[in-house]
Amino acid sequence: MSEQLWRNTVRSLEPHIPGQATKAAKQQLKATNVIRLATNENPYGPSPKAIEAMQKAIQEGHLYPDPSCWELRDKLGRLHGIDPENYVIANGADNIINLMIASYINPGDEVVYCAPTFSEYNKNTTIMGGIPVEVPTTTDHKFDLEAMFQAINEKTKMVIICNPNNPTGTILDGDEIRGFLKRLPKHVVPILDEAYVDFIDVNGYETGIDFIKEGLPVIVLRTFSKLYGLAGMRVGYAVANEELIKPLHMVREPFACNRVAHGGALGALDDIDYKNKVLTRNKQEMKKLVTALRNQGFEVEESHTNFIFCDMKQDTTGIANELAERGLIVRPANIWDLPNYMRISIGTPEQNDQLLKALEEITQTAQV
Ligand SMILES: Cc1ncc(COP(=O)(O)O)c(C=O)c1O
Repeated sequence: MSEQLWRNTVRSLEPHIPGQATKAAKQQLKATNVIRLATNENPYGPSPKAIEAMQKAIQEGHLYPDPSCWELRDKLGRLHGIDPENYVIANGADNIINLMIASYINPGDEVVYCAPTFSEYNKNTTIMGGIPVEVPTTTDHKFDLEAMFQAINEKTKMVIICNPNNPTGTILDGDEIRGFLKRLPKHVVPILDEAYVDFIDVNGYETGIDFIKEGLPVIVLRTFSKLYGLAGMRVGYAVANEELIKPLHMVREPFACNRVAHGGALGALDDIDYKNKVLTRNKQEMKKLVTALRNQGFEVEESHTNFIFCDMKQDTTGIANELAERGLIVRPANIWDLPNYMRISIGTPEQNDQLLKALEEITQTAQV
């Protein structure tokens, strides 16, 4: 009965099914050493400077945070060479996605993006009464900008490019994105989700910050959850020109970024050593994992993130369950309708060794 009282758009959502990580967290009470390789977290913890700043911020926990997050906006602005006024800081990039869609999408508006990709675009669009228009990625799992362009009509209000894409780890060429942005009709708001951009290791790679500085109209979204190891703190931001960012400031709740998270993000930006260490280890471990998995007979896409997307040539749900029994939590890709694929976050060297060993045992037993 009470479901009848829900908003229609909420009733149309898929029921929430707790993921492996949640189940594992519950089992953690019994099993020790659960290794989380399902949510693309940073396995090395927050940087020492971030921890120090967060400890300091806790002492001021009785005071509301600065609603404008001015210090962080100022620091990001100086880092990127963009006016701090053009940033909105919020409770993780998830919250930024809420704000973008709540700011722009009326019931019936279409939001075009490729699939498979990050599930929050679909959920937030649906809640606002918008219509998600999901265009397949290319055969090599890249965002298909030409197909997205063809899907645009007078009802399209927003296009979203996830670059690098989650779950496939693929990236597009800067010129491709630039060309697409330049062709867009004026009634379409472009979003560039760069949650994993810090992991791209391509000389001279152009990002959304470059496009904004060139004067292109695009809202760029970033997070402190990945490279900066602050997923549990919840800090993300949007940056765009004054006109595009304005409604996000209006929709945002006043204290959307708490004092500890704000402090942690400031400390993390200062810790260049930590950042470089994480990037170096991620690269080394990615190479190790990809080589070993290919040697085990799996196909692994080139990834520009802190996770890999692996074709295991068989349904991965069973493998993921067996890994979970050994305390290793990964993400089978059946939720993206790619049942033979698995997304694996890059862990510490020890965690990755454990994963490889377990996978070898599981797949060898399956062949006997
Ligand atoms: C592509 C993408 N965008 C946004 C987010 C949200 O990040 P946050 O932890 O800042 O909410 C994620 C998280 O995994 C992501 O993969």
